[in-house]
Amino acid sequence: MRAIRGATTIGSDCAEEIRAAVAELLNEIKARNALSVADILCILLSNTSDIVSFYPAKAAREAGFSSCALYSSAEPEIAGALPLCIRVLVFAEGDGAPKHVYLRGAANLRKDLKKYSVALDGPSGSGKSTVAKLLAKDLHILYLDTGAMYRACALKAIETECPFDEPSVRALAEKIDLKIVYEGGAQRTWLDGKDVSEDIRRPEVSMAASKISAFSCIREKMVEMQRQIAAEQSCVLDGRDIGTAVLPDAEFKFFVTADSATRAQRRGKELAEKGYDVDLKKLQEEIEERDRNDSTRAHSPLKRAEDAVLVDTSRMTIEEVVAYIKNKIQEKV
Ligand code: DC
Repeated sequence: MRAIRGATTIGSDCAEEIRAAVAELLNEIKARNALSVADILCILLSNTSDIVSFYPAKAAREAGFSSCALYSSAEPEIAGALPLCIRVLVFAEGDGAPKHVYLRGAANLRKDLKKYSVALDGPSGSGKSTVAKLLAKDLHILYLDTGAMYRACALKAIETECPFDEPSVRALAEKIDLKIVYEGGAQRTWLDGKDVSEDIRRPEVSMAASKISAFSCIREKMVEMQRQIAAEQSCVLDGRDIGTAVLPDAEFKFFVTADSATRAQRRGKELAEKGYDVDLKKLQEEIEERDRNDSTRAHSPLKRAEDAVLVDTSRMTIEEVVAYIKNKIQEKV
């Protein structure tokens, strides 16, 4: 018999999140330990006392783990404990080393279980953010969109009519209040106490982000935040300088690119879906101008790290790119 441990966290105490988190955790334990439901004898679940809206054991039953004995209980309140956490202990038939599974925020609980970072760099429209999101979901690790952070700085500059000169941008960098939070696994970007996740996608913010990200005072602040987030858990980071400057020791590095016409088409489709009028030729010119800005700036230019795997996505579907990168990672993890 094997005793397999696992834990995960949720973003907020609600039935939907509890159901999804328990199903994800148990299915992952099942997959990584090559179990069938019939192999499982019993599952003990516990939750931190801040989870009150749904029984994790009921979520397990609903997820198809209904033939084994299930039990769930609330844990005592422990000062400093990881909040909104669900833990499981699975007893199953079979021998061999159990593969314990710690997902999302709970990955912090077992730093001894391998932590790794995936750096995905590349120009805008290369598909890297879609790939990064899907990859992080598949690998059950965090996704950090670093472009969103520079976009938030740019939005602040636009809103405060900050001129793009060193003293003005430095003053802005000093007082910027930027927070990255996760809701139901999705990144939200907060600026000065307001959720700006949608506002930062406005087309005029793109060019301003490219300009403001060239200032070292902005980059230093963003890079420090990015390193802190990456130090705490396994994550996929997408950006321009992750493999070269933010995490030069990242375990996995990829440089994702595509020709500028393909990138303009992809970005155009995205914008059109959001209701913007799109001029493809102008978009391609803007993309090329941003490429020039991003790759010729003095501080951390967009550049492929020597040890990054080059992935040209011009003629690949998103699914093919994700599968290719995931394979490369799973060969080693
Ligand atoms: O990936 P994106 O289009 O959301 O990024 C917006 C701008 O931010 C981009 O033009 C360059 C800059 N950026 C950067 O300099 N370094 C990063 N790690 C991420 C983005």
